[in-house]
Amino acid sequence: MSFTIAIDGPAAAGKGTISRAVAAHFGFAHLDTGLLYRAVGARVLAGADPLAAARALVAEDLEAEGLRAPEVAQAASKVAVLPEVRAALVDFQRAFARRAGGAVLDGRDIGTVICPEAEAKLFVTASAEVRAGRRYLELEAGGAQVSREQVLADVIERDRRDRERAEAPLVAARDAVEIDTSQMDIDSAVAAAIAAVEARMEGKNP
Ligand code: CDP
Repeated sequence: MSFTIAIDGPAAAGKGTISRAVAAHFGFAHLDTGLLYRAVGARVLAGADPLAAARALVAEDLEAEGLRAPEVAQAASKVAVLPEVRAALVDFQRAFARRAGGAVLDGRDIGTVICPEAEAKLFVTASAEVRAGRRYLELEAGGAQVSREQVLADVIERDRRDRERAEAPLVAARDAVEIDTSQMDIDSAVAAAIAAVEARMEGKNP
């Protein structure tokens, strides 16, 4: 059986943490689709052509070091504007989504473009300040030299680029359940996500 859970939302909303926990809860595989764009962005920073990098991408590239760096996130959101780059990454994501045993994919356009037929869709948000605060702590723990102000500016800039692009902009699918995690700790956000998916599962198999 295949069952796809699409989790979208703006930068650093907690999609990664929630997606991993939801996947573990249901025994599903998880794909962080942001890593695809980050891997392409990293190649472009190293001098590659964006489309050539997207077409040459293989699964191992998602484990490359340094993909979480802020400059790679910015480069990712720049290559993500290019329709040909997005098109080159579609088949991999759709194949992953339909694998047997269930899949969780998190990104920006999973519920709208990659898997409009996903059985469960979540849109995870939080205020820009809360998201930047969480990302700052993550980056700091990883040893990055960044300021809170810089992280907030980065998050706002990426959100604007992601929302305003013509191709697959960041927007909640009409049938997505929105979870605002501004006032939630991780456990509550994960519990809310699992409850929303269970509601869809029950709706599907009454
Ligand atoms: O972890 P964070 O939310 O900061 O970012 P990410 O999910 O790793 O995504 C990095 C960038 O890739 C985003 O700012 C988007 O521009 C792009 N992206 C996208 O366009 N579509 C996706 N499905 C996933 C990421």
